[in-house]
Amino acid sequence: MHGCFITFEGGEGAGKTTVLAALADHLKEQGYAVLTTREPGGIEIAEKIRNIILTPEHTMMDGRTEALLYAAARRQHLVEKVLPALQAGKIVLCDRFIDSSLAYQGYARGLGIDEVFAINRFAIRDCMPDLTLFFDIDPEKGLNRIAVNKDRERNRLDLEALSFHKQVYEGYQLVVERFSDRIQTIQADQTLEQVENETLLQVSEFLKHHPF
Ligand code: TMP
Repeated sequence: MHGCFITFEGGEGAGKTTVLAALADHLKEQGYAVLTTREPGGIEIAEKIRNIILTPEHTMMDGRTEALLYAAARRQHLVEKVLPALQAGKIVLCDRFIDSSLAYQGYARGLGIDEVFAINRFAIRDCMPDLTLFFDIDPEKGLNRIAVNKDRERNRLDLEALSFHKQVYEGYQLVVERFSDRIQTIQADQTLEQVENETLLQVSEFLKHHPF
């Protein structure tokens, strides 16, 4: 039996983490078995790699090192947590996956989307998401949203200049176009309630047409 693998993507402050939790509650109420998780992290080894990548002091980290560490964390998280849940027939909701690497490392860091895709294919083999939701918000607005949230972690990538986050946004546009069969866009520049409703609608439609 195979479950359903749904990933959440977008720049900083797009609201995807909050919406993911709301979607999980909704799906559980409908009787689905749901696993929520995040990248980089979600299990001990990957959380340790996350710390290495995102510690603000690690300003000297090379872009390729960064891409390889994300891919390594992804591999371990996939085999330890995601694949067993899918094999158990669950819906897995994952906050970020391969498309983050394509937009952030492949495009914004300038390593090349194809190159970063290649190392990620090594890491995940053919385990691509069944559905990806891209939370679309202007990067400036997204950064303003997180600036007012004092409880939020400030990591090394959050601290990059606005120009970097604009590049990430451009990278996502290319990725969404390239994988248009898999990725659906959610207008994230609305109230949280509206974003949640749009997400529920899109996921319900998807599940209706892709029973598992
Ligand atoms: P988070 O803030 O959503 O927890 O994600 C941590 C940061 O890591 C965020 O700035 C996006 C970045 N990131 C990448 O650059 N590449 C990746 O492959 C992933 C998963 C995250």
